[in-house]
Amino acid sequence: MGTEFKELLAKYLAKTPKSREAFEEVSRYVPGAVGSAIQFFKPYPIFGLRGYGSRVWDIDGNEYIDYCMSYGAMTAGHRNPSIVEAIVNVVKEHGTLLGMPSPLAGELAKEISSRIPDIEMIRFTNSGAEATMYAIRLARALTGRDKVVKMEGAYHGAHDYLLISDKPATIKILGSYDEPRSVPDSLGTPQDVVKLTLTTHFNDVDSVEKLFKQFGNEIAAVITEPVQTNMGVILPEENYLKELRRLCDYYGAFLIFDEVKTGFNASSSAAYLEYGVRADLVVLGKVIGGGTPLAAFGGRREFMENITPVGRVVHYGTYNANPLCVAAGLAALKKVFTPEAHERMKNLNYELFKGVNNAVEDSKIVASTVAKGNMGAIYFGLDKPPRNFREAYRVDKDMWYRYWIAMLVEGIIPYGGAWFEEWFVSAMHTREDIEKTIEAYYKVLKIIKG
Ligand SMILES: Cc1ncc(COP(=O)(O)O)c(C=O)c1O
Repeated sequence: MGTEFKELLAKYLAKTPKSREAFEEVSRYVPGAVGSAIQFFKPYPIFGLRGYGSRVWDIDGNEYIDYCMSYGAMTAGHRNPSIVEAIVNVVKEHGTLLGMPSPLAGELAKEISSRIPDIEMIRFTNSGAEATMYAIRLARALTGRDKVVKMEGAYHGAHDYLLISDKPATIKILGSYDEPRSVPDSLGTPQDVVKLTLTTHFNDVDSVEKLFKQFGNEIAAVITEPVQTNMGVILPEENYLKELRRLCDYYGAFLIFDEVKTGFNASSSAAYLEYGVRADLVVLGKVIGGGTPLAAFGGRREFMENITPVGRVVHYGTYNANPLCVAAGLAALKKVFTPEAHERMKNLNYELFKGVNNAVEDSKIVASTVAKGNMGAIYFGLDKPPRNFREAYRVDKDMWYRYWIAMLVEGIIPYGGAWFEEWFVSAMHTREDIEKTIEAYYKVLKIIKG
């Protein structure tokens, strides 16, 4: 560790004594003191107090410009007034949970369907993980096949079927590029389940075709994000998604687009629509709940009508489609994520992207950047954007960590706290935020160069 970085770390410690204290206390009762493992980073995470717009404040009173935006779930902006109003109203006038269907959920379903035509029908869940789980259940039920194909490094939620070859401890355990191995990320994953999940590479049609040639009549679905996130932001190469569509059609498998992160973020609708392909099933989350726990899976009527009670593919959940989350989601989609807001976010994001690129050039570090919609990523140590997880994994993770701490010291949360996360510009970020952030990049990139 260079002296300069030791000084930075000392600054982080000096700035966050209450977080440190809270970390020590909460760790006694909560493993790692976090609600989700992704919130942890060394030496200890910042403990949050409140947010407004593009800003969050920690329990030490520090203010940060936030680009994590709760991993893309809060891109309406923290405490967005339209969403707060909808939540307060629904709680006062209706309640949080009635245990009955409600017209509000129908309204949100209709709104989503009008913006994503492949979604003729939809069911709501409480998390993206549940929604991907149900989507593959439906694909399995309708094909009578058990295997699913996913991309290496892709995250689709922490359930057994898809938490495979996501973020392995080392790249080696994934096997060779040509013969990738399915490796569970978590202890406790049954081997029999692991065998059902085949892994392949984003942007490599041949690798997908190879799996289909070998297991064609056993594959129920290919699930992928159209723009790969959770390894920075990786754009699909020309025709890649169309080729996936062709292979799925040829072999009779479902094509499921996971738009939990990208939906209404990477694009003003579902991101796959920009690439001229059709989906069989689409999974949504984050934005559609306006910052509350709401996600969904949907698709063509002929598929969705197989869900209970109309059909026999089971979908339950005490909290599903509760008025609280649905009202927040409706406010988000109808009032916040308008075409104008998307345009504004995209433009601000492009300014940020350009500014970061200039700062990279100025500092003479090796790094590449990608931006799409309101999202972006910086890859330290890579001179061009990666095409897949194996390339992304080559990121200089030590440099990333120095950047992370240095940006926090500057009062900026540049990302979610891991090298494979992305930045998000929300509907409430301002030009001033972007300018301040670019200034911080100029300063920080020089410091972390080492
Ligand atoms: C692409 C993708 N799919 C699914 C999920 C799981 O969503 P949740 O955290 O709501 O379970 C995530 C979470 O970040 C995600 O990024």
